[in-house]
Amino acid sequence: MPLVYVVDDDPVTCEAITAVLEPAGHELRTFTRPAEVLEAATTAPPAVTITDFAMPGMNGLELVDALRRVSPDTTFLVVSGQATVEDAVELMKHGVVDVMVKPPRARALRRALALALSQHRLAAENRRLREALRAHRSLSGVIGASPAFEKVLRLVEKVAPTDTTVLLTGETGTGKEVIADAIHELSRRADRPLVKVHCAAIPATLLEAQLFGHVRGAFTGAVKDRHGFFEEAGGGTLFLDEIGEISQELQTKLLRVLQTGEVQRLGESQPRHVDVRVIAATNRDLEQEVREGRFREDLFYRLHVIPIEIPPLRSRGDDVLLLARHFFDRERERQGRDDLRGLSADAVAVLRAWDWPGNVRELENVLQRAVTLAEGPEITATDLPDRLRAGTTTGTGAIEITADMTLRDAERVLILATLERCGGNRKEAAARLGISQATLYRKLAQYGAGETDAP
Ligand SMILES: Nc1ncnc2c1ncn2[C@@H]1O[C@H](COP(=O)(O)OP(=O)(O)OP(=O)(O)O)[C@@H](O)[C@H]1O
Ligand SMILES: [Mg+2]
Repeated sequence: MPLVYVVDDDPVTCEAITAVLEPAGHELRTFTRPAEVLEAATTAPPAVTITDFAMPGMNGLELVDALRRVSPDTTFLVVSGQATVEDAVELMKHGVVDVMVKPPRARALRRALALALSQHRLAAENRRLREALRAHRSLSGVIGASPAFEKVLRLVEKVAPTDTTVLLTGETGTGKEVIADAIHELSRRADRPLVKVHCAAIPATLLEAQLFGHVRGAFTGAVKDRHGFFEEAGGGTLFLDEIGEISQELQTKLLRVLQTGEVQRLGESQPRHVDVRVIAATNRDLEQEVREGRFREDLFYRLHVIPIEIPPLRSRGDDVLLLARHFFDRERERQGRDDLRGLSADAVAVLRAWDWPGNVRELENVLQRAVTLAEGPEITATDLPDRLRAGTTTGTGAIEITADMTLRDAERVLILATLERCGGNRKEAAARLGISQATLYRKLAQYGAGETDAP
């Protein structure tokens, strides 16, 4: 028999509702203090909660939100003497099945309860199916079994079902985006959108409007109302990649959204409630950014609730081989190379010895290239890029610059060698060279190497 909670600070109303519903055989529990409801729901979650709107300490809307966090399948009816039309609209937006005026008519109450119960059954059934599906596809596609990576996976499984903010850190190519995908997939938000925002790729002035949305005329070019990424991710997850790159001003605004759960479209004064889980990622050392005054400390702590550091590939032992096998299989399939059996022992030795500055992305590129080049039936060491074979793990990365070279030529040699050394990863190469990515792109374009990405 599904359990029904009745919540009203006025015991007379509780009794009146009980008098209507009890004879119909429903199992009821009444509460006159909303705070007690949450506690009770952790041990005996109700199928339906019928609640008053204006109560001391917590109004009906707050109760709905709080109770749903404890008991996600509970459905709600609100019976109120005071709720305005605006309140009712807001309540319905939060998924309340019906809003009735006090005192509710017996027939209307019974009918509303029947509807709420059937919605509860549907919600519970949906969730059960989703969970079965999720268990089935749990973390497929995420490869790695080393102790260092296992630790990451355990943490992912633990935080995924919660709504806490997650901060992913790790060198370039370690799989931050892959982990963000996994967290979303394993969360109760899996069938809602996962919206990804590459904060570094969008100019600061545009980013704000894109995140929060804007109304028509908010700025030149704003020809119509637009919702932002926060609203687009409603009920789902927002992945803020390269969070370390956002401006101070935007940091302040983001902090406010995280604190209040409300966004304000540019040019609009009324904030909107958003239900979004934020996952942020960075390959910067945010703590250092905070110490040096470039990143707001309070925002850092907001994001840092659950930090997950993804270890570099070189400290993940045989994951290199597991991943190599995975990428090999995938590429063989994609490129239709049925003639290829696998990797030769010398190729494996080379892969093991390399230190993978570009991490998993670099390995992926190396395998892609090797499958294309291999004559078969195996991938051999000669199918791997020169830098892997030449370098020992601690390769000096020495290049040849002679006294008769122009400065321009010497620069070119250094830049191309660094890029090679970084597995074609331009962000990493720019960082090592101490120049901006934009400068690197410009120089590569001059060398006619503009289109060569990773090897
Ligand atoms: N554990 C893994 N299993 C399978 N594929 C992986 C794994 N980790 C990373 N990859 C693959 O490696 C590539 C790089 O991963 P991803 O984009 O997630 O890295 P990142 O940490 O976000 O890098 P960046 O800091 O440069 O943005 C992707 O193609 C991804 O599919
Ligand atoms: Mg990334």
